[in-house]
Amino acid sequence: CLENKLIVPEDLVLDEATSWQQTAVGLVPTMGNLHQGHLSLIQRARQENSTVIVSIFVNPLQFAPNEDYQHYPRTLEQDRQLCEQAGVNAIFAPTPEEMAVPQKSIQESEVTQVIPPSAMITSLCGRSRLGHFQGVATIVTKLFSLVQPDRAYFGQKDGQQLAIIKRLVADLNLPIEIVGCPTVREASGLALSSRNQYLTATEKEQAAVLYRGLQRAEAAFKAGDRNSSKLIAMVQQEVAMVSKVFVEYIELVEPTTLMTLEKIEEEGMLAIAARLGSTRLIDNTILCDR
Ligand code: PAJ
Repeated sequence: CLENKLIVPEDLVLDEATSWQQTAVGLVPTMGNLHQGHLSLIQRARQENSTVIVSIFVNPLQFAPNEDYQHYPRTLEQDRQLCEQAGVNAIFAPTPEEMAVPQKSIQESEVTQVIPPSAMITSLCGRSRLGHFQGVATIVTKLFSLVQPDRAYFGQKDGQQLAIIKRLVADLNLPIEIVGCPTVREASGLALSSRNQYLTATEKEQAAVLYRGLQRAEAAFKAGDRNSSKLIAMVQQEVAMVSKVFVEYIELVEPTTLMTLEKIEEEGMLAIAARLGSTRLIDNTILCDR
């Protein structure tokens, strides 16, 4: 509707639908240590934009004081090469000073914060990661403001983050299209994650049980099961086969609002978080008829 109110000189009007694509900027926000999951977002961004920017910033605001901010893998030179091979036009890799954030968690920082709706940040991972999503929402808003992309790409792997960012751009009227991209997995089904390198070879095998659990529930859903308790119990049973995996939560929520679902009417996100050794794993699957 803004377009109707703007008076644009005739020579600036783009008459081809594709002209927009040709000048569009796609942003892929990351914390670096890039893997095939990140590269799949870059690939999608390249298909839809003429310029692709990857941001690499290990965001102190989204780590709680007891989390792995100091030890988070930082591999800038390797990331630079991967970006070059993937046809990225520019990397934005600021320091905390350049991003104007202190090297502290959001709770300990005196900065203006973006606070998503409380129901969205206190459920699922928000219960154990206090301040995490405020930290994510704040830094992503800053990245959007600095880079001013037309589109930004996020993985379904972090389904709660994706829902929160979609809500953020809608609530703050940011003129950015948020594109959700499918989770990239290893052959075992384990969702790729920078934190997988904390796992031993045996733990990596054990960690694949999360996806096997989700797959069992997917099969039951396809066979007609719609009840939350039944689908959750299936994941629980499968994951219980590996005694080293400690479940933090298994929940069925509506994918955009993250409200708990008793039953799937249209679409549900079945999400799991678990600990294996010192590593926290998350995964999810979208269950829908379409
Ligand atoms: P990071 O964990 O580096 O992830 C960057 C992006 O890659 C996120 O959108 C994430 O969902 C996506 N991603 C990670 N693993 C994936 C996989 N296996 N398949 C598909 N996509 C995957 O998420 C963050 O960084 C940060 O919170 C950030 C958004 C950059 C804000 O600091």
